[in-house]
Amino acid sequence: MATDPLQKQKPKRKHLAPAHLVAFDQVVKRYGDHVVLDHLDLTVERGRHVTLIGPSGSGKTTILRLLMTLEQVNEGTILVDGVPLTHMTTANGRVRPADEKHRREIRKKIGMVFQQFNLFPNMSVLRNITEAPVSVLGMDRDEAEERARELLDLVGLRDKADAHPTRLSGGQQQRVAIARALAMRPEILLLDEVTSALDPELVAGVLDVLRDIARSTDITLLCVTHEMSFARDISERVMMFDSGRVIESGPPEQIFGAPEQERTREFLSAVL
Ligand SMILES: Nc1ncnc2c1ncn2[C@@H]1O[C@H](COP(=O)(O)OP(=O)(O)OP(=O)(O)O)[C@@H](O)[C@H]1O
Ligand SMILES: [Mg+2]
Repeated sequence: MATDPLQKQKPKRKHLAPAHLVAFDQVVKRYGDHVVLDHLDLTVERGRHVTLIGPSGSGKTTILRLLMTLEQVNEGTILVDGVPLTHMTTANGRVRPADEKHRREIRKKIGMVFQQFNLFPNMSVLRNITEAPVSVLGMDRDEAEERARELLDLVGLRDKADAHPTRLSGGQQQRVAIARALAMRPEILLLDEVTSALDPELVAGVLDVLRDIARSTDITLLCVTHEMSFARDISERVMMFDSGRVIESGPPEQIFGAPEQERTREFLSAVL
């Protein structure tokens, strides 16, 4: 029998993209004697919106900082898109500790927005957004500006392109920080309590923007938040983190509606 011509035409993919964009495998992180992450296993599937909740000081920010290579693990492995953060394979097949170039390549896939927006105060809003795409990705300045204006539209700040960050409200600055992170076209966006430094009346605007991003883009989100209602309606999966491990994980209806762990119930009754 003749072979199926369609079969033959199928492009051969060099490698299948791994289902998990992020995978922590038995990760240990210590500060002195203090074990912050205790053989942590954690995965984030591509395209998903995952929220991490848990008590203060339990290590949520540490997880994001490890992903950004701002910290190093003591034990275990972190894979981003199937590639280890800590190791690289050289041309002759040797496995070596990752160098800065390797880490930089992986970091390109990751965007992060912090509680403190950290905008460049001496640059206009537009320049804040175009700076890294031009200097790091080598993007053409006109193209970067066009893209920045689209992103300002997305975050509802088109008319603020020429403003200086110090003239913006906290909520507006945080929306610029979100646009700036997206300008690098990350595959995953890490959000660390992005509304907790804001006045209460500014929180809703920022959360609306994030909901919009979750709905209208295919970007993967890993959020740390104390806003439980936001966690509930943005995420497909909520992970409860305590004592260095994910103790429970599931859809928001389950975690908020019928948590299995006593520790989760305790935590939720304190924050809700
Ligand atoms: N550079 C550091 N040196 C020593 N200890 C640190 C350092 N960074 C974090 N820690 C400790 O690690 C633990 C986890 O901190 P982390 O900031 O990850 O917590 P968190 O869950 O994000 O808390 P929060 O909800 O308050 O933001 C804390 O006990 C903190 O004191
Ligand atoms: Mg934190």
